[in-house]
Amino acid sequence: MTRHFFEVDDLSRDELQQVLAYAADPYPSKVLDGLGMALLFEKPSARTRNSMEMAVVQLGGHPVTIRPDEVGLDTREPAEDVARTLACYHGAIGARVFEHSKIERMAAAVDVPVVNMLSDESHPLQALADILTMQQEFGDLGGKAVAYVGDANNVARSLAIACAMTDMEFRIASPAGYQFNDRDLDRIRANGREPMVTESATEAVAGAHVVYTDVWTSMGQEEETRQRLDAFAEFTIDAALMEGLESDGIFMHCLPAHPGEECTRDVLDGPQSRIWPQAQNRMHAARGLLVFLLGGA
Ligand code: CP
Ligand code: NVA
Repeated sequence: MTRHFFEVDDLSRDELQQVLAYAADPYPSKVLDGLGMALLFEKPSARTRNSMEMAVVQLGGHPVTIRPDEVGLDTREPAEDVARTLACYHGAIGARVFEHSKIERMAAAVDVPVVNMLSDESHPLQALADILTMQQEFGDLGGKAVAYVGDANNVARSLAIACAMTDMEFRIASPAGYQFNDRDLDRIRANGREPMVTESATEAVAGAHVVYTDVWTSMGQEEETRQRLDAFAEFTIDAALMEGLESDGIFMHCLPAHPGEECTRDVLDGPQSRIWPQAQNRMHAARGLLVFLLGGA
């Protein structure tokens, strides 16, 4: 049966560990030998595009990156027919979309794996790289606490699920109106852990091992920028907030960062920051996932 990847919990806990093990394998099986992977982007990307393209190359395949206007996604022809067309030539499809349902529609139309490269709902490839980075830092993750400070967005959702699946404590500090809804909380709980939800960044960070943030205004929300700057004004991660972490605590950010907004430049560049290993791990995690989805070993 074709496996797709829309959210981290499309994998079982064991499968997640398998993907992470494949990610660390320096000699992966060339599961894309002689095959292409179509990478469709409705939004800009630096890390996802480059890490996916290079992961495909490392697996013996050929990446073809496509902007939606080039294929007329849902304008020139329905997304399902675009997906069916791409599946004629490619062993897998990746898509970065505004509406999550568009990825599901594409996946339902084809029998090659479809990978979510970020939607308004989730960013599971990012979460795989995040867990890999934490494993490299701490080894066993059980009982470690991750404090996410900022918008309860796509990155936060996938990270919270990934933390639950690896028995980590997940805390989230966001202003009222920018927190997880009940459906989000239920999905995290379904993965075995109760998240801590607070409006206090200090409370979330106290004694945590990881503090994590993302932009306050995600792609597609640009019209809300002014109101979000006001709402999140007390949620900047600075040197004083970092003091609340455990002594071996680290700072993470999916990037792109907006220094002076969700975090200060000195925190991004400071000794506890792991943003560049995290970015590099995007490629290793993507490769591990593709090996899994394409049935490699
Ligand atoms: N973190 C991340 O997904 O970065 P890009 O938007 O540059 O791909
Ligand atoms: N939440 C951000 C993540 C970017 C990688 C966005 O969706 O724009």
